Amino acid sequence: MKPISISELLTWDPQLIEIEKSANQLPWSVENLRSCFAEGYQNFVAYDEVNHELLGFILIHQPIADEWTIMNVVVAAQSQRQGVGQQLVQHVCHLAQLNNADLFLEVRASNQPAIALYVKLGFNTLGKRKGYYPTASGDREDAIIMKKSQIKTG
Ligand SMILES: CC(C)(COP(=O)(O)OP(=O)(O)OC[C@H]1O[C@@H](n2cnc3c(N)ncnc32)[C@H](O)[C@@H]1OP(=O)(O)O)[C@@H](O)C(=O)NCCC(=O)NCCS
Repeated sequence: MKPISISELLTWDPQLIEIEKSANQLPWSVENLRSCFAEGYQNFVAYDEVNHELLGFILIHQPIADEWTIMNVVVAAQSQRQGVGQQLVQHVCHLAQLNNADLFLEVRASNQPAIALYVKLGFNTLGKRKGYYPTASGDREDAIIMKKSQIKTG
């Protein structure tokens, strides 16, 4: 797991975009991806040092110290189901715990792989946003809002 800073974006940009496109039917726009490389974000990549290959990435928004949002987590299509997504989310859960920060996210109601991953790592459903996401067929689908709380001290 490597942190990726704003200054490194130029190096990684084409690969991040390629992974986003490989893994999603409705990928984020390049502008949306790049907008997460700004102040208030902390981003990480999973990198295969042996084959010099980017496997996936996770983007975290930290608008305030103790409430972080997972904006996106993506694993390249050919590297899925090998534990990479779990490693990325676990890494962020660990950091959040160290910083006493609750984690929030939104996920498409139809995205069972991602929901299963989040449930496995201790996220609970808070509610839903009706018709939040557009679908490939031109309809709308709900967003499920999930949270992983830290036990606050002090
Ligand atoms: C969601 C995603 C990041 C998971 O990454 P991954 O590396 O394939 O997942 P892992 O191999 O680490 O799996 C960890 C757990 O996630 C769940 N999971 C992952 N893929 C799954 C699938 N296809 N079906 C059901 N559960 C799945 C399982 O609980 C799994 O644990 P298990 O192996 O003990 O069954 C990946 O599918 C992806 O990039 N999807 C497209 C982008 C996306 O939807 N991101 C989420 C945005 S909110």
